[in-house]
Amino acid sequence: MKFRTKDCGALRAEDAGAAEYLCGWVDSRRDHGGVIFIDLRDRGGITQVVFHPEECPEIAKAAHDLRAEDVIRVGGKVAPRLEGTENQKLPTGQIELVANELHLLNKAEPTPFPLDTRIANEDLRLTYRYLDLRRREMLDNLQLRHRVTKIIRDVMDGAGFLEIETPVLSKSTPEGARDFLVPSRLTPGSFYALPQAPQQYKQLLMVAGVERYFQIARCFRDEDLRADRQPEFTQLDLEASFVTDEEIQSLMEKTMAEIFRKTKGVELPLPFPRMTYQDAMDRFGSDKPDTRFGVELVDLGDVFAESEFKVFRSALSSGGVVKAINAKGFACITTGQIEDLTDMAKQAGAKGLAFIKVENGEWKSPIVKFFTEKEKEAMRERLDMKEGDLILFGADSWENACTVLGRIRLRVAEICKLIPSDGRNNFLWVVDFPLLGWSAEDNKWNAVHHPFTRPKTEDLPLLESGEYAKVRAVAYDLVLNGVEIGGGSLRIHEADLQAQMFSVLGIGEEEQETLFGHLLKAFRFGAPPHGGIALGLDRMVMLLAGAESIRDVIAFPKNNRGQELMTSAPAGADPRQLRELHIASTHKPKA
Ligand code: AMO
Ligand code: AMP
Repeated sequence: MKFRTKDCGALRAEDAGAAEYLCGWVDSRRDHGGVIFIDLRDRGGITQVVFHPEECPEIAKAAHDLRAEDVIRVGGKVAPRLEGTENQKLPTGQIELVANELHLLNKAEPTPFPLDTRIANEDLRLTYRYLDLRRREMLDNLQLRHRVTKIIRDVMDGAGFLEIETPVLSKSTPEGARDFLVPSRLTPGSFYALPQAPQQYKQLLMVAGVERYFQIARCFRDEDLRADRQPEFTQLDLEASFVTDEEIQSLMEKTMAEIFRKTKGVELPLPFPRMTYQDAMDRFGSDKPDTRFGVELVDLGDVFAESEFKVFRSALSSGGVVKAINAKGFACITTGQIEDLTDMAKQAGAKGLAFIKVENGEWKSPIVKFFTEKEKEAMRERLDMKEGDLILFGADSWENACTVLGRIRLRVAEICKLIPSDGRNNFLWVVDFPLLGWSAEDNKWNAVHHPFTRPKTEDLPLLESGEYAKVRAVAYDLVLNGVEIGGGSLRIHEADLQAQMFSVLGIGEEEQETLFGHLLKAFRFGAPPHGGIALGLDRMVMLLAGAESIRDVIAFPKNNRGQELMTSAPAGADPRQLRELHIASTHKPKA
């Protein structure tokens, strides 16, 4: 016996007359005066099954007792639907299966939530994820993810890349997050770190002469979670030897083009535009600019050099900037909305958010009184100020002013619905990132990408002379519609330069030896020039699927508190397990 001869999405008008078996879940049941209609659902789709009481009374009676989500097997004959009862929305809508056999394979209890809509309570969806995943939207997402992975493997194979697995139980490799640690039973007091990325292993594969490596790699980062961040996620991770940054970028462009062509039927225009980090921050206030709409940041430093308004003058005289955006037509903003934006600006590090409303031919703002006619004229022209506009200012250090206005710009776009809904895909490479960033919190220089990133050759003298803020890296991020979907760089392959970089990062010689001795040693045995990139697979599939969160494209994600609710992970451990691991918890549960 075969369970089924077709899936529930397969039958068409030309199959009329065929005898077939279908299996699946009861999606819905309707009783039309004794005639029972079942919508039978499986991964392939939905087929209507009819049970006629006069022809098969026993079976029709059994069908009458079926409930949503019961699992059944039905046998019958494919028949065209009566004229006027076809369902144009279903691929199988021209036919129905007239049942003459019914097997109840498993009875289902009533589900804790309806499966025909997306319910708002995500924790409930995650607790019963196996039910949530029965919904078409979710199955489609899993299917899309599978196809994207398959296309990636084909493109990589075609380009001569070898798929190689690297350890999950490994040594810490810094990517800017906290590590997840796994205690070792065999080496008491020692810990493996789960990889934040396979960064060092893939570089060591280059030293090994692999030349072109890729992996659909799981990465683990203990950081605060958001809609596009999970503690474990997947990267298309790759590395190549004897390549330029342009070659890696071009390979990624081809990969993205192939994915969009095959999954969406969309031809992406290549190459993607390039924008320097400096420009991205200057114009969009972000290192991952959403270029689907304007509202660019405008510099007003020269206009306000002599300003009477002390906030502007003091920002400029201490080496900072005055910038503004014009939220066109948003002078109607309410006081509450201005307060919300100001709070947002303050959270992003601003001291305030000065504004001007252009209403009834007047500039309404507490700060207008400080402006001269000349300053006003220059502003009017530079910002294209018209009736109904709202101008928002940032006066601060360059980085702070840009970042704050960048966030405000996104929020304004959200409120004013500025993002076109035409499904555009604005890809963009952000290049020439700074190599190092000063962390006031840590009181030291940190790597902007990671410590293995190569400084630009022409900026090496700046590294020597200690002008760290000016050193640029050969690093590039791939951005799609304001989401960073990938990041990579050319690497340092010389032991001496790598050691120098570690020193700049405040890692002393001894510590270098303990943490990265293996890498420094490997670089002394003939390491080829190399570079690579990693794309966030979850984020990419999220954007392709039009999903709002990466949780919707991951089968079993964690919620915002890092919990996997279906199995209740994380959970306590057996005292015996802890003893074997030489671990004791210092956690005291709140009374
Ligand atoms: P990076 O840290 O930029 O680079 O990561 C690459 C891409 O991975 C995705 N990503 C995430 N996705 C979901 N949840 C997270 N918590 C998360 N963190 C990162 C992003 C990001 O662009 N080893 C380097 C790559 C290299 O240099 O080759 C790295 O991991 O889309
Ligand atoms: P104050 O002189 O502090 O009362 O500020 C006058 C206006 O300027 C208020 O609307 C503040 O929100 C705004 N403001 C203060 N500091 C800044 C800043 N650094 N950047 C932009 N606006 C500011």
